[in-house]
Amino acid sequence: MSQSITFQVQPGGSLRGEIRVPGDKSMSHRSIMLGSLAEGVTHVRGFLNAEDAMSTLEAFRAMGVEIEGPVNGEVTIHGVGKHGLTAPEKPLYLGNSGTSMRLLSGLLAGQSFDCVLTGDKSLESRPMKRVTAPLASMGAVIETDENGTAPLHIKGQAGKLKGMHYDMPIASAQVKSCLLLAGMYAEGETSVTEPAPTRDHTERMLSGFGYPVTREGSTAKINSQGKLTATEIDVPSDISSAAFFLVGASIAPDSDVTLKHVGINPTRTGIIDILRLMGANIEVLNEREVGGEPVADIRVRTAQLKGIEIPEALVPLAIDEFPVLFVAAACAEGTTVLTGAKELRVKESDRIQVMADGLQILGVDAQPTEDGMIVQGGGNIGGGEVESHGDHRIAMSFSIAGLRASAPITIKDCANVNTSFPEFRQLATELGLNLVTL
Ligand code: S3P
Repeated sequence: MSQSITFQVQPGGSLRGEIRVPGDKSMSHRSIMLGSLAEGVTHVRGFLNAEDAMSTLEAFRAMGVEIEGPVNGEVTIHGVGKHGLTAPEKPLYLGNSGTSMRLLSGLLAGQSFDCVLTGDKSLESRPMKRVTAPLASMGAVIETDENGTAPLHIKGQAGKLKGMHYDMPIASAQVKSCLLLAGMYAEGETSVTEPAPTRDHTERMLSGFGYPVTREGSTAKINSQGKLTATEIDVPSDISSAAFFLVGASIAPDSDVTLKHVGINPTRTGIIDILRLMGANIEVLNEREVGGEPVADIRVRTAQLKGIEIPEALVPLAIDEFPVLFVAAACAEGTTVLTGAKELRVKESDRIQVMADGLQILGVDAQPTEDGMIVQGGGNIGGGEVESHGDHRIAMSFSIAGLRASAPITIKDCANVNTSFPEFRQLATELGLNLVTL
């Protein structure tokens, strides 16, 4: 368990240089899950060695999968095949990782053994009914506590799950992925329709492992008639980690940063679209495809941002980037309005409330609404002490705010930066952010 860490950022500075941020979190989770269920040995490069992805890796080790690494981002998975997992001896502890818990609930619903999924305080307060309810319609037997939260007690229903069609009420890649993974063990077809496009790494990676998954419009379909064949996976840098520097270099004077080898899957690039609408100077260079995912280098230079009404269609495509986008909005000229983003209230923290509270402490006029926020720009960010509520992206976002602050910002409860981006402080400092840990 991580101990308490406080960040302190000195005001001002520029960001300059070229860096490669760590591997994509979503793809790292999925590489372990699918590599474990594959036949043969899968090699992964660029794996994110951070707490969330390690929670998934340790869970599969506990279910009998031999996994070597990570060493310098390399992981070797000795796949056990679709039916080769074995019962874990203890509950699987998944730390802070919502992706691990929601995807595993689907994958484990149709196994021949029972298991229990637990997590930290934040994870055990996040809504799980969104996965357990549709899984129950497929025949899964999963007990939550009375609030619909974890621990999840899963009674394996090997051979008993039935495929179904599900119209997702919310745009969630975790729910979609959960049901597709359950569908690999269900009789007949399982199909999931999404109300708006969400990240499609599960579908792409299943195809990369040779498992048939089809898409018709906004519906993804799968059945149990496939197998996974081991493959090579090259995980690009996480655009959600790059996002802190896309905003930082936009708002800090005299900045020029190049982020190398970043995943630019179109279901993830809402941050670029939104920043460009705000007037950011972002160039996407050397576009290429690596292992079924588009990748590029991204150059970003200082720009005067302007406030906008964020198009709701972009919300699911930038869902993890709003904490740092609120900082961009505080530095923009004019008002920025976010709507249609209620999901932010049930992330690792209530990201609408927590960001509004922190920005207000720093003197920014940020008004939370039920499903978004109204931020008056102007760039007058003061100093002060803010709470991250153990949310990694809140901690990093307030660190970036320091670039335009007039006094030091102290950010409490930052240990969970290790869940997604343990190198954040080192890389941010290399680029020019004056950040220390207390
Ligand atoms: C993720 C999906 C998103 C995102 C999360 C990672 C994934 O969650 O916020 O950080 O890897 O599928 P939702 O499905 O809840 O939107």
